[in-house]
Amino acid sequence: MMGKIIMLIVGWAVIVTIGVPTIIIAHSWKAPKEASERQNPAPKNQDSIEKGKALYRKYCASCHGKNGQGDGPLAKELTPKPADLVERAAHHSDGDFAWKITNGRGAMPAFKDQLSEADIWDLTNFIKSLN
Ligand code: HEC
Repeated sequence: MMGKIIMLIVGWAVIVTIGVPTIIIAHSWKAPKEASERQNPAPKNQDSIEKGKALYRKYCASCHGKNGQGDGPLAKELTPKPADLVERAAHHSDGDFAWKITNGRGAMPAFKDQLSEADIWDLTNFIKSLN
């Protein structure tokens, strides 16, 4: 009896110390430091944000949702889910977003062949304006 309880405790300890950090690390997606620290060359003005918004509606809303909350019509079929960009906007730099939009990961498409760098910075300005 005691042996079983100890095994259970040890089992849980292993799951918590190895499993939880693995899940956290696997879920965090970070741009390389250099990309993340890049300054956005597009000024954060209404013109840039409006351009970004138009691009967003066209290329991104199907997954990330009309208002950026990760709830677009395609979202329910995807794992992991499209990010809630309203929430992320508070925690990630412009350079980080631009790099992720450029390179993609998994179900998130890479847009480097579809969009110009200027488009991607306008999109970044729009996303940052959500939070
Ligand atoms: C086909 C669905 C789909 C489309 C279209 C799409 N995304 Fe995503 N996006 C995802 C998914 C899924 C993730 C989560 C990827 C992951 O964590 O592995 C993601 C993640 C992101 C992230 C990273 C958030 C973070 O920091 O973790 C950003 C930024 C982003 N998308 C922006 C965009 C923009 C801007 C567009 C349009 C140009 C776009 N996405 C189009 C599915 C999509």
